[in-house]
Amino acid sequence: MTQSIAVANAKGGVAKTTTALSLGAALVEQGKRVLLIDLDPHANMTISLGYKPSSLSPTIADVFLGDCLIEDAIYGTPVDRLSLIPSNHTLTLAENHLMVRDRYQLILRDALSQLDGFDVFVLDCPPTLSTLTQNALAAARILIIPAQPEYYSAHALRDMLNLILAIRQRNNPELRYRILLTMLDTRNRIHRSLAKQIRTAFSQAVFETQIEIDTRLRESPLFGQSILQYAPQSRASKQYQALAQELRRYTHELD
Ligand SMILES: Nc1ncnc2c1ncn2[C@@H]1O[C@H](COP(=O)(O)OP(=O)(O)OP(=O)(O)O)[C@@H](O)[C@H]1O
Ligand SMILES: [Mg+2]
Repeated sequence: MTQSIAVANAKGGVAKTTTALSLGAALVEQGKRVLLIDLDPHANMTISLGYKPSSLSPTIADVFLGDCLIEDAIYGTPVDRLSLIPSNHTLTLAENHLMVRDRYQLILRDALSQLDGFDVFVLDCPPTLSTLTQNALAAARILIIPAQPEYYSAHALRDMLNLILAIRQRNNPELRYRILLTMLDTRNRIHRSLAKQIRTAFSQAVFETQIEIDTRLRESPLFGQSILQYAPQSRASKQYQALAQELRRYTHELD
């Protein structure tokens, strides 16, 4: 069965897209066939892989509207075994139409259940708790919540946990989650202390692996590459590989 991983946080700019792409590439290195799905109308993941969103058709928006089969919206990437369903601004229009549909929170899950040939789906969510994020959470087995060690992070995390409880009750009782500390500046004492506070507050739910600040992560999208291709020896590359390994151990425990 294909494993489905959502990457979401209502807070913007916490490395959701970076994590989805880098983890996807690390899972490919483990031998997996990975499908990345861009669920953000701003299409940062699509752009990071070298596509120009406005000229793309079909996209994930057409899948939500029922205008195309999901397999027809799959695009290749420069990496073998790494595929993409892209997004663009039409996803905002599609989202506005969703609510009038029956089972509108389950459209993505139903569509993904039609797909063969992948080991993992990685769903990159917008920075909201919108219908699109709810679709991702209904379709996912594991939710990764990237969080920066900041004073406000704990509040955003509580919002996410409330959404998880609602989704578990409504349509996905099996949903599990893990928090991932990102953009950590280990030289900064306050950063270290806030990271420790998040670990204490959420204990087991926080990945041991943490992602430190690495400027090469800002550069790699300019070249349409994941960090694993752009800078394989970088610290960020090693940390995302460690995350993929920790995730593998975690999913074995779940099975
Ligand atoms: N570990 C890191 N070190 C340095 N820069 C990073 C790191 N992780 C992500 N970034 C940079 O931070 C910015 C925000 O990251 P990203 O786009 O992945 O966040 P996001 O949560 O998807 O944002 P949005 O909410 O807008 O979708 C990007 O410029 C990205 O390159
Ligand atoms: Mg993003």
